[in-house]
Amino acid sequence: MVAKRLLDNIGRRHTAIIGQTRSGKTYATRFILKKLQGQGIHTIFFDPKHDDDYADLGVICYTPMQVYAKLLSKTPKIIYRPNPEKNKRQEELTRVINLAFEVSKTKGYKRIKRVFAIDEVQLMVKKGGNDGIERLWTVGAGQGILGLAITQRIQLLNETIWSQSENKILFKVEDRPEYLRSRNLDHYAELLPYFQAPENRYWFYATVGDGVWKKHPPVGEKKERTGSPNNMRRLRLSRWQS
Ligand SMILES: Nc1ncnc2c1ncn2[C@@H]1O[C@H](COP(=O)(O)OP(=O)(O)OP(=O)(O)O)[C@@H](O)[C@H]1O
Ligand SMILES: [Mg+2]
Repeated sequence: MVAKRLLDNIGRRHTAIIGQTRSGKTYATRFILKKLQGQGIHTIFFDPKHDDDYADLGVICYTPMQVYAKLLSKTPKIIYRPNPEKNKRQEELTRVINLAFEVSKTKGYKRIKRVFAIDEVQLMVKKGGNDGIERLWTVGAGQGILGLAITQRIQLLNETIWSQSENKILFKVEDRPEYLRSRNLDHYAELLPYFQAPENRYWFYATVGDGVWKKHPPVGEKKERTGSPNNMRRLRLSRWQS
């Protein structure tokens, strides 16, 4: 599962997901996008890795024109696999974002709410900024297009994305504690050993922009309700039985 409050906010505000390799970012993103799809929100998953593990997130497109056709036919779930060449994939991202904006202004499409998730966003950001990303994170929310950016280190993240993402989701990260403190994340720096412990694999730390940060269990698992009356009873019973 994933906390309802967090999920609802990802459908309303921009989101940044950060964590070192294998920490569970893309897996969590997939889980979140599927939940949002279930609520009728349209999604685009921009996947520079062309990762077949995540191919069930929608219809796969390889050119901006293919995306345009899917947007016009109101296809709710789209995957975009950009050209592997750096300059081209940066351009393609901007083109796909611009198409999503164009369609969102067209009569008959205005009410569609969309979450645009970008995996490995550091690959997309060039010096001086990526126009598409700047546009999405500054004016997207007002037009029903929300961004969700995924990357490995806070330090690698584009400043606009970091400052304009009310929802921040941190898995274990490689950023140094001093760097985390410089970003007012002292509380997270202190919790790093917790997130790095093998028994807490795939746990994450998140805020929805209200200044409150919480630890969350891995997506996909039911929350354990230790201490609930039922659990206590089961505990007592098992002790009785042994
Ligand atoms: N909550 C989870 N429950 C079960 N398995 C998980 C969970 N999260 C991640 N995994 C597994 O851990 C592995 C790494 O997860 P994932 O691909 O999400 O990492 P990542 O942070 O996106 O890494 P990278 O930066 O290398 O892309 C995958 O094999 C995935 O199936
Ligand atoms: Mg990944």
